[in-house]
Amino acid sequence: MKEKIFLTRTLHDFALKELKKKFQVEVHTGKIPIPQTTLKSKIKQVDGLICFPYDKINKKVIESAKNLKVISTYSVGYDHIDTKFAKDRKIRVGYTPEVLTDATADMAFALMIDSLRRISEGERIIRKGKWKQIYGAYDYVGLDLQGKTLGIIGLGRIGKTLAKRAKAFDMKIIYHNRNQASKTKEKKLGVKYATFNKLITESDIISIHVPHTNETNQMFNMKIFRKMKNTAFLINTSRGKVVNEEDLAVALKQKIIAGAGLDVFETEPISKNHPFTKLENIVLAPHVGSSTKETRIKMAEITIKNLILGINNKKPIYSIGY
Ligand code: DGY
Repeated sequence: MKEKIFLTRTLHDFALKELKKKFQVEVHTGKIPIPQTTLKSKIKQVDGLICFPYDKINKKVIESAKNLKVISTYSVGYDHIDTKFAKDRKIRVGYTPEVLTDATADMAFALMIDSLRRISEGERIIRKGKWKQIYGAYDYVGLDLQGKTLGIIGLGRIGKTLAKRAKAFDMKIIYHNRNQASKTKEKKLGVKYATFNKLITESDIISIHVPHTNETNQMFNMKIFRKMKNTAFLINTSRGKVVNEEDLAVALKQKIIAGAGLDVFETEPISKNHPFTKLENIVLAPHVGSSTKETRIKMAEITIKNLILGINNKKPIYSIGY
């Protein structure tokens, strides 16, 4: 008898084909994200689960599973999974780091260039038929990246890759991380360690690269925005909940900070009436950090490999805990 697997939404055709050769495959085709009741009932009899960042794989869901051996998420983030409880139940958890590092660092860099050079703002002006002034000394003036101080919060894979890009743009790079990197690594990357306080007060641009945990929840709030330079920009491609959105909207409106570029939000998708959509000094992207054709294919490959390994009682290529 083939093992049963369940996908909370569809994946690339090649991945489904591969999975169908080995397993009995069921793909959820209804509402996205999958409702908790459906998820709880579907997970009951399956051996493997493929899930996505918006699915809540909490204790209650995991408790419903009787035969589950592996949860394989199509993401680097795993804050949607109760990994501790899964481990207690001896259920392996696979995820997809590394393959999306470049794409996500590119996205952070793109948001940074867009924010400083006001590309999206200009696009909105043109589309609304409001492009009147041309080439004036003060018209649509942005800022140079060269010489600016970039503060990277979290020097993991993506933070380091962003540093490489920033170095090529002649930026000064400081970082804050739980552990300071070795002097050799710092030198190679061209980065300097800073305390959190020094980083937020001295950076012209701050880019967030930490996971969402109890420790990082709403790490960026009004208290922090008030300490930042009023000419500074905030870039977030990690998780929305690391930022207090209500405070950020006020900080942008009152020019407590100069601008922001966001790919992630507290609750996604945001509605057209969200306070951010009323502001000109913010660039908004629909959570597409890893969303390139090449990267998404690699993510699918890792996702299915992780699942196959887990079903065969082996450790996934990238696994949380065990
Ligand atoms: C992830 O993989 O966690 C990213 O947020 C997707 O872009």
